[in-house]
Amino acid sequence: MRSYPKRGLAAAAGLFALILFQGSASAQIQRDSLAQTPPMGWNSWNKFACNVSEDLIKSVADAIAGNGMKDAGYQYVVIDDCWQVTRDENGNIVADPKAFPSGIKALADYVHSKGLKFGLYSDAGSKTCAGRPGSQGHEYQDAMQYARWGVDYLKYDWCNTEKRNAEEAYSTMSKALLSTGRPIVFSMCEWGTAKPWLWAKGTGNLWRTTGDISDHWAGMVKWPDGNCCAMGMLDIVDLQVGLESFAGPGHWNDPDMLEVGNGGMTAQEYRAHFSLWALLAAPLMAGNDVRSMTPEIKEVLTNAEVIAVNQDKLGRQGHRVRKSGDLEVWSRTLADGSRAVILLNRGANESEISVAWEEIGYTANLPAKVRDLWAHKDVGTFKGSYTAKLPAHAVVMVKVTP
Ligand code: GLA
Repeated sequence: MRSYPKRGLAAAAGLFALILFQGSASAQIQRDSLAQTPPMGWNSWNKFACNVSEDLIKSVADAIAGNGMKDAGYQYVVIDDCWQVTRDENGNIVADPKAFPSGIKALADYVHSKGLKFGLYSDAGSKTCAGRPGSQGHEYQDAMQYARWGVDYLKYDWCNTEKRNAEEAYSTMSKALLSTGRPIVFSMCEWGTAKPWLWAKGTGNLWRTTGDISDHWAGMVKWPDGNCCAMGMLDIVDLQVGLESFAGPGHWNDPDMLEVGNGGMTAQEYRAHFSLWALLAAPLMAGNDVRSMTPEIKEVLTNAEVIAVNQDKLGRQGHRVRKSGDLEVWSRTLADGSRAVILLNRGANESEISVAWEEIGYTANLPAKVRDLWAHKDVGTFKGSYTAKLPAHAVVMVKVTP
């Protein structure tokens, strides 16, 4: 009899432990719960490559917080390659003390003080693409360090991985990040080599589908070292065809960061680039010098109607509906049942392009309102189809609402 209270106590303690365990198990962050819409932010690589420093990052954060980009939805300020120089005697990753004299924690605090989030870059191999220390063999140690610093986003590259298995490597880092208890968006940069769209849902929040973008309209251009090839913006777009079914809230195809404003394309071509990324539910990571862009470029990056398509809650990636030579039609189904439609003229001549309602899932005689998302104008109610005349290298982007 005397043992009953003791047993009761033991049972109560057991129950308490079970509740605690279940509590912590359910508190574990699920990978797919992050990035419910495609991440928006800025990354240093396309414009600054290895010239990164705390001064640069602070001034970029100031600009994004003050120039309308933050209000438009840009959130993550991400330092790409070259912030790290070595490991200390305990294996901890060390930031470049000359470029980041105040340390990464202070910089993350600064970015957070602007109401923005902070991201870093590492690599699944022994070294990053620029030859800095990678995370291979240090995944949990690095993840803990990122969490202590206040990192909200990790881009994880694929250089110097030798024969490493991509699924194993990315899953190890994904789990390491989750084990910290800090919500850290995981951006996989494996270039599509191992077809991550087939296995990376639940591992990454976004995965690169191709090699690096370069700042030109179309065509493969040899690298300075003679190797093949830098891809134009439209070459990247062509490689997205067929991947649309793999994207959704928490797991996005990533056709690489934006080149908008970097000088290699016209403003009209950049509007096409931005429109296509929005329709593809691609992450919108600006890659230009946002401290000194022209009003025209700022207008592209902060077009609220195009961003609303990108951030649509349904999270369904758009797809190419038709290609007739240089003339294409793309469509994306939105949460309210309407369609975002892009008419794309890839060619060098002015051309007319039509979209038929039946191609985008409506009946032919349904009257539908058409709104031009760049002109910010309702253009009318149309039955059966809509036709527009496009200059060379341009898009018309409309929302079609029955
Ligand atoms: C690779 C990536 C790029 C960039 C560089 C940095 O090429 O694909 O996006 O991160 O490495 O060295």
